[in-house]
Amino acid sequence: MTNRGGLLITGAALADGARGDLYLADGVLADPASAPAGVERLDADGLLALPGLVDLHTHLRQPGREDAETVSSGTAAAARGGFTCVHAMANTDPVTDTAEAAEYVADLGEREGHCEVRVVGAVTKGLEGEELAELGLMADSAAGVRVYSDDGRCVGDSLLMRRALTYVKAFDGVIAQHSQDTRLAGPSACCHESEWSGRLGLPGWPSQAESVIVARDVQLAELAGARVHVCHVSTAESVEVIRWAKRRGIQVTAEVTPHHLLLDTPLVAGYDTRFKVNPPLRTSEHLEAVREALADGTIDAVATDHAPHASQDKDHPFDVALPGMLGLEQALAVVVEVMVNTGRMDWPTLVERMSATPARIGRVSGQGRPLAVGEPANVVLVDPAARAVVDASASASRSRNNPYGGRDLPDPVVATFWRGRPTYRR
Ligand code: DOR
Ligand code: ZN
Repeated sequence: MTNRGGLLITGAALADGARGDLYLADGVLADPASAPAGVERLDADGLLALPGLVDLHTHLRQPGREDAETVSSGTAAAARGGFTCVHAMANTDPVTDTAEAAEYVADLGEREGHCEVRVVGAVTKGLEGEELAELGLMADSAAGVRVYSDDGRCVGDSLLMRRALTYVKAFDGVIAQHSQDTRLAGPSACCHESEWSGRLGLPGWPSQAESVIVARDVQLAELAGARVHVCHVSTAESVEVIRWAKRRGIQVTAEVTPHHLLLDTPLVAGYDTRFKVNPPLRTSEHLEAVREALADGTIDAVATDHAPHASQDKDHPFDVALPGMLGLEQALAVVVEVMVNTGRMDWPTLVERMSATPARIGRVSGQGRPLAVGEPANVVLVDPAARAVVDASASASRSRNNPYGGRDLPDPVVATFWRGRPTYRR
């Protein structure tokens, strides 16, 4: 398939159920009636066509840990998952905390990416939590940074957090916080604090270690009149705080990961380090709370927290292995399974949560747009009925820490098109 000659996708249904042909030509959606005779065609009868998915939270590991992931391999995994845009987290080596570092990642994305790569800048220099990073210079750089995060670490200092919020307000940036009170849940905490942590002998991570930071941050966002985004919400208490803050008119948005929607604490009972993640997998009442919050919009978006790790960092006792799991390739599958197939959410709402809203939060133009003539040709074709047992070895990622391996799940992604070009075909 080529870009020039264009591609006519016929018979697909859109998220709202309407059927329409899509004509991808020169990177945009053109009027299907203008497609020349003999144009290449793709029969999409029985499939859904959705806007390309947008991930707000992806660890691409380049520069520094190219053994675990690269911009090329991570974005190839993204394309397989139906994504046409990812946000590359700043906890690389070196950290993305300067304009030069941000431009380096943006440039890699432009040259090697299988989807759009937006750069997340660090909030503090070296993620050390002591001095603000070059927030303004990163915004003004060619990378055009709008999302800032010390993810992996929490910005613990309230004054620094206030200053960061105030600073980024000037250019409509957002601080994406990894909410973890490190006094309540220190570096060794690795299991939801509950009967499970006690029984398994694993250091507990109480749900309040998350929600106390969320409660502080929404009040700081109110004080600064700025936008705060809560990364990987995992607890019922955080949901309640966000609900309160939204009712008050505070500019807060939030994301939930696929794994916090589907996987629960008892999975860690086998000490399988694929299930070690930060924040940890929670118990069923928390899973229910985040599912309900995603359905009603209290949680605005799904974000993967795709966190590839090399086997030498995972093949350790549970308490010392690095936290993190793959997410890009099965994200849509998990959301379809947990939210759509259960009747909790319809397809238009899924598009809001996985494409339109994350693009808006990241201030990404040209992503998360409706599939209409004149819009960028970022499209994912979905088979809503297909299922498969996840084969973890079939991943495009360089890492194999896939928590879904061996699970029977929906297998929705048939093809992904970014700027009119196929980036994945099943
Ligand atoms: O499990 C996690 N892994 N949580 C984070 O916050 C960081 C991430 C990583 O970078 O591996
Ligand atoms: Zn995080």
